[in-house]
Formats: sequence, C-alpha cells, structure tokens
Amino acid sequence: MSEQNKNTPQEKQGDVSRRESFVKLGLASLAVAGCGAATFGYEFLSPNVLYEPSPIANIGKPDRFPPDSLTADQGAGIYIVHAAEGFYALSATCTHLGCLTAWKPELGIIACPCHGSKFNRQGTKVDGPAPKPLPWLRVWLSDEGDLLVDRSTIIPPNQFVRT
Ligand code: FES
Repeated sequence: MSEQNKNTPQEKQGDVSRRESFVKLGLASLAVAGCGAATFGYEFLSPNVLYEPSPIANIGKPDRFPPDSLTADQGAGIYIVHAAEGFYALSATCTHLGCLTAWKPELGIIACPCHGSKFNRQGTKVDGPAPKPLPWLRVWLSDEGDLLVDRSTIIPPNQFVRT
C-alpha cells in the first residue's frame, strides 16, 4: 500500500482544507495586486492637471462702491476704485517682490508692508523700491449688471467702466 493511502480521512480532510486555504490566500493576493494595479492605472490615465481658481472675480453690483471710494478685496487681491470718471481695478500685488499691499485710508495711499513701497489711488508709485506702478486690470459689466475683474489681463491706465 502506498504512503498516500495510509492517511486517515481526517488527514485527507486536513490536506484538502490546507490546499483550499492556500488557494484562497493566492486569490486574495491576486485581488490585492489587482486593486493596486487598478489604482495606479487610474492615476496614470487620469489627466494630470492643476485646477486653479478662475482669474475672473465677480465683485458684485456697482452700487456696493460709494463714489470716490477705494475698496480692497483681499481675497481676490485687487482694489476696486470708484472714481469720478468711473470704475477701475488695480492689482494689490506689489511690483517689487510680490507682497500683498494694503490700503491706508488715513494716509490716502496703498502701502506695501515688505519694503515700504507706496502707491497712489491710480497705482502710480510714489515711494519705495517697486520698479513699476500697480497694474490696472480689465473690468467690465456682466449681463446681470455685476462688475467683473479679470486678474489675468492688464490694461493701460485710465480706462474706466461707467455704469
Ligand atoms: S515687495 Fe513691496 S516693496 Fe518689496
């Protein structure tokens, strides 16, 4: 009689159970490997793009801004000026090294906290190391009557939006 036939039914049962457990372990390993491959495959195939916020800021209705006012929108990084000629917007980013400037109403100037550059309400530099004035940004009225500012489009100064 061969060695294999000497096994009791319990031992045969144990062999089958062990074999089954190895098969299950192998299948589980394949499933884990498949999930990993699917995850990396998805990341490889999905577009690798950077979603940036729109450069266009909706700053609301013109009547929010009183005549002869300068309003800082720190979130958008811009100033909205309601001058006698109409509306315009300035970038609040200093042209020296890119710090965010701040409106000082008591002095009537826009000041940079980093190296002391100062600008007037038209963005013209009046003091400090900034090499250029604050840029004027494109402003227009939407169909709904909101003022929109395109922070990515610099325009020549003295272009006003009348409402
Ligand atoms: S970054 Fe504004 S003065 Fe230097």
